[in-house]
Amino acid sequence: MQSMEFVKENKPAQLPLSIWWVAAGLAANAALLAGVALLDAALPEPLGPGAPPERFHGLTAHQHLTNLTAIGPRVAGSYENEVLAVGVLVAAVKDIAAHASPHNQLELDVHTASGAFALSFMDGMNNVYRDVQNVVVRVRGVGGRATGRSALLLNCHFDTVPDSPGASDDGAGCAVLLGVLRALAAARRPLRHDAVFLFNGAEENILQASHAFITQHKWARDVRAFINIEACGAGGREVLFQAGPHDPWIVEMYASVVPHPYASSLAQELFESGLIPADTDFRIFRDFGNLSGEYRQP
Ligand SMILES: *[C@@H]1O[C@H](CO)[C@@H](O)[C@H](O)[C@H]1NC(C)=O
Ligand SMILES: *[C@@H]1O[C@H](CO)[C@@H](O)[C@H](O)[C@H]1NC(C)=O
Ligand SMILES: [Zn+2]
Repeated sequence: MQSMEFVKENKPAQLPLSIWWVAAGLAANAALLAGVALLDAALPEPLGPGAPPERFHGLTAHQHLTNLTAIGPRVAGSYENEVLAVGVLVAAVKDIAAHASPHNQLELDVHTASGAFALSFMDGMNNVYRDVQNVVVRVRGVGGRATGRSALLLNCHFDTVPDSPGASDDGAGCAVLLGVLRALAAARRPLRHDAVFLFNGAEENILQASHAFITQHKWARDVRAFINIEACGAGGREVLFQAGPHDPWIVEMYASVVPHPYASSLAQELFESGLIPADTDFRIFRDFGNLSGEYRQP
């Protein structure tokens, strides 16, 4: 009884104070969260043509994306994909080659191929393709040592599903790769290792052009590892979605050189469990090229 009275007596004196403390604490917390959210969403100012040529020019990459999406949906086999999109990419690569530094050389190959393969995807299927196109570009350092198997493959696909201009999937990936290609080609010293850029023209139905490249292209044997730039939904920050299966140095390299590394192992588990009916060129390079690499979503 006595202790109850004691509590009762003290309550009125304590209550207002603690409410204010709680309110202040919540406000501080909210301000901190807002600050972190702002920092998290903050992006560097995109550079334009006036910036040093060996930097990534975000404004030019955006123009590549505008040019590609202006075509509209680009279904593999359509005039839009096989003629217009290939034309936009080839023109962009030729312009990049014209602005390369004397230290690096570009070689362009528009590759057409036919083939067939079994895919253990969903219930399993046979996948037959004819005359799919790849726009392939190799950058080499001038006077560099003869390369064994040491090239890095960078992949995106420019074809789309029938009802979308594919800005996110995967136009943005191709725009980013064109920007990276421009910057590497303009580098003021020779590249130590070759980079092979694969703009593949048939991913959506299903993974055919990457198969054509990795099983048939003359440069496929030179590839040591790959980075696949794909989309999974639109928006959000770049995430490393899948890596491996061998060569853990790839992830160590990612963690040590990427300015804002951000990765999740969730997607890898989902893909491998077969729970989601989707897959990417990652599988093709891994299963048909015996290669390790990364799948990043820009
Ligand atoms: C976009 O297309 C226009 C018109 O063909 C061309 O002049 C321009 O150079 C293209 N932009 C890029 C970044 O390739
Ligand atoms: C695939 O690559 C791994 C790691 O590089 C290697 O150990 C293995 O022997 C390769 N398998 C084949 C069939 O080439
Ligand atoms: Zn895609």
